Amino acid sequence: MSTANAYDVAQVRSHFPALREGAAHFDGPGGSQTPDVVADAVRATLVSAVSNRGTVTRAERRAEEIVGAARAAAGDLLGIDPRGVVFGRSATALTYDLSRALAKQWGPGDEVVVTRLDHDANIRPWVQAAEAVGATVRWVDFEPDTGILDVDAVTAQLSERTRLVATTAASNLIGTRPPVHQLSDRAHAVGALHWVDGVHATPHASVDLAQLGADVWVCSPYKFLGPHCGIAAADPALLETLHPDKLVPSTDDVPERFELGTLPYELLAGTTAAVDFIASLAHTGDETSHRRDRVLASMAAVEAHEDALRERLEPALRALAGVTVHSNAPARTPTLLFTVEGRDPRDIHRELARYRVNAPAGSFYAVECSRHLGLGDEGGVRVGLAPYTDEADVERLLDALHRVL
Ligand SMILES: Cc1ncc(COP(=O)(O)O)c(C=O)c1O
Repeated sequence: MSTANAYDVAQVRSHFPALREGAAHFDGPGGSQTPDVVADAVRATLVSAVSNRGTVTRAERRAEEIVGAARAAAGDLLGIDPRGVVFGRSATALTYDLSRALAKQWGPGDEVVVTRLDHDANIRPWVQAAEAVGATVRWVDFEPDTGILDVDAVTAQLSERTRLVATTAASNLIGTRPPVHQLSDRAHAVGALHWVDGVHATPHASVDLAQLGADVWVCSPYKFLGPHCGIAAADPALLETLHPDKLVPSTDDVPERFELGTLPYELLAGTTAAVDFIASLAHTGDETSHRRDRVLASMAAVEAHEDALRERLEPALRALAGVTVHSNAPARTPTLLFTVEGRDPRDIHRELARYRVNAPAGSFYAVECSRHLGLGDEGGVRVGLAPYTDEADVERLLDALHRVL
């Protein structure tokens, strides 16, 4: 198994105190473990003087700087203007909030397109926002055998009444990575917005929003080594056209207009630290280069590292008697959903845990996806790779599976 030269997984792992507890973590798609530098940044913020944002006191200026730095970091991570970066409680909360703001511009006869490949956080807010204003929801199925979301199947649901197309950039259940760029083109061709759930894609591949063409990209720092909060990134010009419900005295500036209440400064500082940590992963030898360039190099190295591990894991998993792997799309993240004939996935989760191998079972809120795969609401066992996964973890998983199955 070869990994990218520039990637030193032992060095990466040394930054994760949680790994010293001894478990092999395949639960990253639910939330990654946290590096020391992120925890340090959170703590440093909480123990330093911070107040409401302003320009007079040092505490006010610090809050201001933290927010600006976090927007810049998210901008470098996603390849987008920092003025279009909105922070919120979670991807789910941001999608709900923005869906209501968008739906103010919709009415009866307007249409919204959602897919069964998606996490429910990128389905239900749209269904409910559409219902509230009398708009119509159009559903797109993926192909259950291949896991592919066909661009033409999406296009077939588009019309001149389509206002928004909501798709995932990667399925958190089976890893499928639909072609975002093509889907954006199709949505734009009918004058619709393309809303992309990038929560599961962002930890596994570099993102260039300008190049992808998506109108909004949602992600969650706690999936890419950061703290528990959410990000919605869009062109500031688009955000200017939206008017969420807000308090009378709160600013109408973009992006603050969408950030209800006081921002979690410590989590934003942690998000900046997570992006800086990601930018440091590849050791390009030129630590002075622009952070965006280092992020791109690092994400390429993470992808190569995870691919190499998957090449060892996936055939071995598929070869186990009674195992069906449901992650089959040609383009996908290193996220393997499997079931075992005659076995309850929850039992396998529990039994693996006895060997300190963490691989949870369920549908992981991608309930439409799980049902469409024929797995009901129970789903399967999900094995996800992360930047800190190493060969020993993979061997521990395979060894434990041999004992458990
Ligand atoms: C693909 C995907 N979308 C959305 C979400 C929801 O994210 P959050 O917990 O930030 O609301 C998740 C969380 O697992 C996810 O994997």
